[in-house]
Amino acid sequence: MERKELFHEGKAKRLYLTDDPHYLLMEFKDDITAFDGDKKSEFPRKGEFNNQTSAFLFNYLESYHIPTHFVQAVSDSAMLVRNLKMIPIEVVVRNIATGSLVKRYGVEDGMTLSYPIIELFLKDDSRHDPMINETHAYAFGHCTPEQMRTIVRIASKVNAVLKSFFDRRGLTLVDFKLEFGYGEGEIFLADEISGDSCRIWDKKTGKKLDKDRFRHDLGDIESSYEELMFRVLNKEHKPD
Ligand code: ADP
Ligand code: TMP
Ligand code: ASP
Repeated sequence: MERKELFHEGKAKRLYLTDDPHYLLMEFKDDITAFDGDKKSEFPRKGEFNNQTSAFLFNYLESYHIPTHFVQAVSDSAMLVRNLKMIPIEVVVRNIATGSLVKRYGVEDGMTLSYPIIELFLKDDSRHDPMINETHAYAFGHCTPEQMRTIVRIASKVNAVLKSFFDRRGLTLVDFKLEFGYGEGEIFLADEISGDSCRIWDKKTGKKLDKDRFRHDLGDIESSYEELMFRVLNKEHKPD
């Protein structure tokens, strides 16, 4: 598939048109941002790590009949995806209390939740992604109740599948953010599933292998993203 002009540039990825209007080329940048873009940096091979982690996980979810936008990896740092009409909602699923949940509700950091929490946020950096509920989504025309039921069903299934996947890799899936889009009358899981969009902790040591290392200046960002990729791909990781 031939790469055509730039269609959209976000904080961490570029989308290019291709010679088929149904597909886009998604290129992962080495840029890293936090706090709605207020904190910015970059590190070498970050795009490769996130592309390869995402490609593996989308492919894995497809094997569980979860519809995703992923078509195929086209290079170390790019993948071909379905061109979707994106729903501007971030769907967050949580298994362990941390991050904004702790700030909002005062629950204990690190507490295992007795039931997964699903939250919705409007994707709008300028307003710091305010929390919404389903009725905001219907009233603002972002999706129908039927589409929301599909989104919540897919989000719950992704959690069940990935939780046990990460567990078998010696990792804890703490929480993650999903984005959805529609095309050809169907809802697809889109965007990325990587250290940028998930919190993942080593089961034995508790080491964080995700963007919290950048958010909170914990160091070792590059080697942690690389370790996450190797452990997801189940390949041997030899840190320098
Ligand atoms: P942002 O700066 O918006 O957080 P990124 O740098 O991650 O985002 O850019 C990716 C953009 O592409 C996001 O706006 C995301 O909603 C959008 N997107 C993700 N998957 C698809 C897709 N399959 N089709 C169209 N747009 C997509
Ligand atoms: P939070 O605790 O900051 O609300 O984050 C919950 C999860 O969502 C965590 O895995 C990080 C992810 N996330 C994003 O992918 N993008 C965002 O803009 C935010 C705020 C969180
Ligand atoms: N995704 C947001 C950003 O890149 C916020 C975050 O992940 O902390 O700025």
